[in-house]
Amino acid sequence: MRYLVTGGLGFIGSAFIRLLAAERPEVEIVNLDAMTYAANPANLASIAENPRYRFVKGDITDPAAVTTAIGEGVDAIVNFAAETHVDRSILDPEAFLRTDILGTHTLLEALRERRIARYLQVSTDEVYGDVESGESLESSPLRPRSPYSASKAGGDLQVLAYRTTYGLPVLITRGSNTYGPYQYPEKLIPLFVTNLIDDQSVPVYGDGLQIRDWLHVEDHARGILCVLERGELGEVYNIGGGNPRTNLDITHRLLAGCGRSFESHVRHVADREGHDRRYAISSAKAHALGWRPEIEFERGLEATIAWYREHESWWRPLKSGEFLAYYQRQYAHR
Ligand code: DAU
Repeated sequence: MRYLVTGGLGFIGSAFIRLLAAERPEVEIVNLDAMTYAANPANLASIAENPRYRFVKGDITDPAAVTTAIGEGVDAIVNFAAETHVDRSILDPEAFLRTDILGTHTLLEALRERRIARYLQVSTDEVYGDVESGESLESSPLRPRSPYSASKAGGDLQVLAYRTTYGLPVLITRGSNTYGPYQYPEKLIPLFVTNLIDDQSVPVYGDGLQIRDWLHVEDHARGILCVLERGELGEVYNIGGGNPRTNLDITHRLLAGCGRSFESHVRHVADREGHDRRYAISSAKAHALGWRPEIEFERGLEATIAWYREHESWWRPLKSGEFLAYYQRQYAHR
């Protein structure tokens, strides 16, 4: 068996590759990654020398790179490659359309030309948009409200259209907010933890009462593997953590974990434009396949804080150069 994983140097993709290497030793892994700002070879240092692992530097929008990565053939493609940060999509939408829609299209075209048993598109609960009450089902309408989520929804729709039109063997997972080790420090949890370790303030958008459903990255990776192996072709599966928390709740936990106080370290700043108030998904369909999140949230969050404390050498170099320019652009005016 050989799997092509795209975006495998990123946060969730690298967790998936580590999981495959540990639990599916029979699977050869090809990792196609464009090495954009959020990719980090250090995420896969533990398996870089594994003879069943091969790295190809390339962009999923480039058919030649996809052909090189597929080589003599693969049994499955799992597409993690994406632009993923909502705030960046508000500043610069174009890269999101390119990678998340066109990149998906390039992979689907490669799938059309070859015999590949399974294609899994890693998507997001954000495609359902703001959920005032209740939970989104896989059949719920897509109402994306940011350039990021609209791009991901565009990718999902392409995948489903290729199923209908060409009968391709596709699956989609829609995950909820993911946290854990190796997450680029622009997202809420790693940004706040690393700022607090450095005795800096943390920027809470608006009233901080927005709700996200938190899922540990290892549970997310296991959910994707479960759907890849057991999901029904043509189907969509929500992968939610079942841990709805307000951003303020998360902030309080991070402050406590880092020994900082709310008064001295929290800055209320202007809200994100078009900010979705709440995401909530039902994961009953994935549960029926046998997947459940295993990492209890409070324990997972404590372990994550400890990981960032113990791995300064991983994140400190990231919070310079490109990141500082972005941080300035994103937060200076707020
Ligand atoms: O729901 C799944 C999605 O979760 C993924 O598809 C996205 O790729 C991922 O980035 C994440 O999207 P969010 O926009 O929810 O994540 P983020 O970490 O950017 O923000 C989480 C919440 O925290 C959100 O309500 C905005 C708020 N926030 C975020 C940042 C970076 C702040 O209050 N201050 C901040 O500085």
